Amino acid sequence: MNTSSKPIRLDRYLASVTDYSRSDAKKLIKSGDISVDGNVVTDVAFSVSTDADVTLMGASLRPAGPRYLMLNKPQGYICAARDRRHSTVLDLLDEDNPERLHVAGRLDIDTTGLVLLTDDGAWSHAVTSPQRQCWKTYYVETAEPILERTQIHFERGVFLKDDKARTLPAELIIVDEYTARLKICEGRYHQVKRMFGAEGNAVTRLHREVIGGISLDADLAEGEYRRLTAAEVASVYLKTAP
Ligand code: URA
Repeated sequence: MNTSSKPIRLDRYLASVTDYSRSDAKKLIKSGDISVDGNVVTDVAFSVSTDADVTLMGASLRPAGPRYLMLNKPQGYICAARDRRHSTVLDLLDEDNPERLHVAGRLDIDTTGLVLLTDDGAWSHAVTSPQRQCWKTYYVETAEPILERTQIHFERGVFLKDDKARTLPAELIIVDEYTARLKICEGRYHQVKRMFGAEGNAVTRLHREVIGGISLDADLAEGEYRRLTAAEVASVYLKTAP
């Protein structure tokens, strides 16, 4: 999370908290419309701390804090900034500057469930980096019966086509013949589908329920989203067991 309060130049500050370019910010400052802590400032290089009260014609401008959202992704949406053929998860958001958000751990177009979106790169790295051991739980339905030996194989790690290393140890909880929950702490391309493929099985439905300490909110209908609580945001930095 960005807690920095290092002073920065006023023109740079304005460009970071508004949609003005640096050159437009300079013009605004020179026009005398900007005040800092109640005093008009016309010096573009004025040093301003990020907790100062900066106003534009009397209206307060505050740096927007980082955003952390959870979305219940429906099928048919892709986890990308834009796509020529499909709608993207950003199309489901009613947010200012949605293009500044990115997905922390993508899902395939036909996978449903928990998607996290943020503009905080360090936070999304904590969600996605295998070294950070942030466990994800997937609900899986399969075409063929799930064999008990698959549990042992996933625990040991399996080789996926074109990958050099085995998958990291994963936990498979068999719910019934064709249904299971799989907990993994990495996010290789189509990982869950490829893991079951390596066992001669095929995934027919895939739904993400949990990421680290964050469970998909049962009150969110498909396509709905909400802001994460502070505890949910912080939970990503705590090591979770599978
Ligand atoms: N593994 C997959 O195969 N697909 C997803 O969408 C997520 C994990």
